[in-house]
Amino acid sequence: MVKYNAILFIFVSVVWLSIIFLVSDAFESDDESSKTYIVYMGSIPKGTSYYPTSHHLSMLQQVIDGSNVENHLVRSYNRSFSGFAAILNDQQREKLIGMRGVVSVFQCQNYHLKTTRSWDFLGFSQSIKRDQIVESGLVTGVIDGGIWPESESFTDKGLGPIPKKWRGVCAGGANFTCNKKIIGARSYGGDQSARDYGGHGTHTASTASGREVMGVSFYGLAKGTARGGVPSSRIAVYKVCNTDGTCNGNDILAAFDDAIADGVDIITISIGNPIAVEFLKDPIAIGSFHAMEKGILTVQAAGNSGPKPSSVSSIAPWLFSIAATTIDRQIIDKLILGNGKTFINERNLTQIPQLPSSVLVQSYTNSTKYPIAEILMREIFHDKNSPTVASFSSRGPNQLVLEIMKPDISAPGVDILAAYSPIAPLSGNINDKRHVKYNIKSGTSMACPHVAGVAAYVKSFHPDWSPASIKSAIMTTTKPVNCTYNDLAGEFAYGSGNVNPKQAIDPGLVYDITKEDYVQMLCNYGYDANKIKLISGENSSCHRASNRSFVKDINYPALVIPVESQKSFNVKIHRTVTNVGSPNSRYMANVIPIENISISVEPKILSFRSLNEKQSFVVTAVGGADSKRMVSSSSLVWSDGTHRVKSPIIVQRLS
Ligand SMILES: *[C@@H]1O[C@H](CO)[C@@H](O)[C@H](O)[C@H]1NC(C)=O
Ligand SMILES: *[C@@H]1O[C@H](CO)[C@@H](O)[C@H](O)[C@H]1NC(C)=O
Ligand SMILES: *[C@@H]1O[C@H](CO)[C@@H](O)[C@H](O)[C@H]1NC(C)=O
Ligand SMILES: *[C@@H]1O[C@H](CO)[C@@H](O)[C@H](O)[C@H]1NC(C)=O
Ligand SMILES: *[C@@H]1O[C@H](CO)[C@@H](O)[C@H](O)[C@H]1NC(C)=O
Ligand SMILES: *[C@@H]1O[C@H](CO)[C@@H](O)[C@H](O)[C@H]1NC(C)=O
Ligand SMILES: *[C@@H]1O[C@H](CO)[C@@H](O)[C@H](O)[C@H]1NC(C)=O
Ligand SMILES: *[C@@H]1O[C@H](CO)[C@@H](O)[C@H](O)[C@H]1NC(C)=O
Repeated sequence: MVKYNAILFIFVSVVWLSIIFLVSDAFESDDESSKTYIVYMGSIPKGTSYYPTSHHLSMLQQVIDGSNVENHLVRSYNRSFSGFAAILNDQQREKLIGMRGVVSVFQCQNYHLKTTRSWDFLGFSQSIKRDQIVESGLVTGVIDGGIWPESESFTDKGLGPIPKKWRGVCAGGANFTCNKKIIGARSYGGDQSARDYGGHGTHTASTASGREVMGVSFYGLAKGTARGGVPSSRIAVYKVCNTDGTCNGNDILAAFDDAIADGVDIITISIGNPIAVEFLKDPIAIGSFHAMEKGILTVQAAGNSGPKPSSVSSIAPWLFSIAATTIDRQIIDKLILGNGKTFINERNLTQIPQLPSSVLVQSYTNSTKYPIAEILMREIFHDKNSPTVASFSSRGPNQLVLEIMKPDISAPGVDILAAYSPIAPLSGNINDKRHVKYNIKSGTSMACPHVAGVAAYVKSFHPDWSPASIKSAIMTTTKPVNCTYNDLAGEFAYGSGNVNPKQAIDPGLVYDITKEDYVQMLCNYGYDANKIKLISGENSSCHRASNRSFVKDINYPALVIPVESQKSFNVKIHRTVTNVGSPNSRYMANVIPIENISISVEPKILSFRSLNEKQSFVVTAVGGADSKRMVSSSSLVWSDGTHRVKSPIIVQRLS
């Protein structure tokens, strides 16, 4: 009986796990309860005589009558960009919006958190070529729910001294010791400890950057070697989420402010907003912009709000937004209840049948004094259709800027075994008394650190590449995703494809994007020129004439072409590639044809004489008014015989 109960609980917990992911990873927001506002002020003005915090306090002084300013200031952002969080009433907020130097004022919201086999499935074996010395100089910043520093995945055995460039601190609280693996820890929002009580932060950190740990499993399942993408790299922890998975926007922005100044190389953040928010009111878009400015790529989970179209909330072009796919290992449970009902749990986690089945199990358990159940089998089978996109994974198109394809790419995010907090309840339910050191989880939260690990891996071969070049290298070298369902466009589910780390270090060509290009895009999009000056910290920001129709020309490694419905169109899109392959090379363009739409590339051949040489080309899409299809997709491949530099092209009719 005892045994049965325990087994039953495992099953129920597996079901719970999925519910928790559906619910807690669904990024709910807490609207009116908080009166904390974030006042974002852009870059820190250059010059030595400027003190951001004094400026923030004096601004607050001007809008708050009588009372003590210190009681209103929640946090000052003063290291990597300028701004503050403050408790304000409506009048005070209005006054601040009108003040010089202010880019945006927005209410502080709550955000939510969204093994072994996955890396091998990606063709990224333990014996992959590595530059361990460079890799061990890289720091992955993990903005999440903390970490379990004693986990075997974070031992520092064999690691050399902490990188000299590191400017962070170990402020994880009492009883939290850093080592040469976890080299930095900070916590926010009054939390005194960077220790992980929920499990999520330990899981994501170990997927991105955990050491190799042999013989781990989840109750014997998925047994193998657990490892992160860059096992020699260092980890810096920024704890912004509570055990219940809520994460405060003000704390997230503070974590970016610190991580950038501390000297991280990559930021992984499996946290998101429930819906797409305008860039200047989204702490993750703001923080990652300033990270990009300093050469740091931010990788973010696309969200778990799929399969609804336009559900992706990670939409800024400088963010790397990750969808979740299956791997070839699937886990099945079969359960027979005492009343004869049988359940098959395909851990296809967001399939709605699981919700009712858990309710059924519960009501059966409630209905009888002696609930009995038998697990017939818990087995792993080889899924030959993989990778497919998990249905929970948030879908494009990009609600705010249609021309920017989102999500960008996909990576394993179903049934991922990784390190866990041994004091976190296994299923997330506080009554669950079982604890594990390694746990299986699903979500775009799990896909995100895979790509962060790959990004760090690419950076270890190309330390001087910009964030956009690293992202381009990863996006143009993907493997296909098996798309058999009727999505609007497969690319709006899986982005440019499934991440392929082995090839990503040798892409041949990259589509680079500079800070100036992003700024010009904001100008073209229509943001106020004075605000853009504050954000960029430059005197003249909008260099060329700004025009909404030029947004499509941002040098993105994917092309989305929105066209009016029932009208003919002729659209030209400009792109520039940089040669990072062989000095002397010749690339030919190949476009997969689309019915009734003509896509041409000019010139069709690009010849390079040296490394880092740039060449531009124009893609022209022409179509008539009669095309019925709402979305058509194709791809452009530049090939020199060795490299295949592939970009999706999506023509989207606006309804
Ligand atoms: C920067 O802001 C932090 C957090 O609000 C504050 O503790 C610190 O004193 C500020 N530093 C300076 C130099 O003003
Ligand atoms: C410190 O952490 C260890 C490791 O888990 C734990 O066993 C111990 O109880 C903790 N001590 C305090 C004072 O929190
Ligand atoms: C089963 O009982 C528990 C505890 O009384 C209750 O919270 C839960 O809602 C019940 N479930 C169903 C499906 O009746
Ligand atoms: C894709 O999945 C379908 C079933 O969902 C399967 O029939 C097909 O063989 C798979 N294709 C590939 C290329 O794996
Ligand atoms: C989940 O299961 C449903 C039907 O049971 C299937 O259509 C879908 O493709 C599956 N999704 C994944 C990600 O395996
Ligand atoms: C902006 O222009 C002013 C006046 O022309 C100059 O003093 C200042 O150094 C410039 N700032 C930057 C960041 O270029
Ligand atoms: C923007 O550019 C388009 C052509 O790309 C042109 O037709 C339009 O007049 C321009 N608008 C402005 C305000 O310059
Ligand atoms: C292509 O054009 C032909 C002729 O106008 C039309 O009959 C057909 O439906 C079109 N196909 C698509 C996919 O739009």
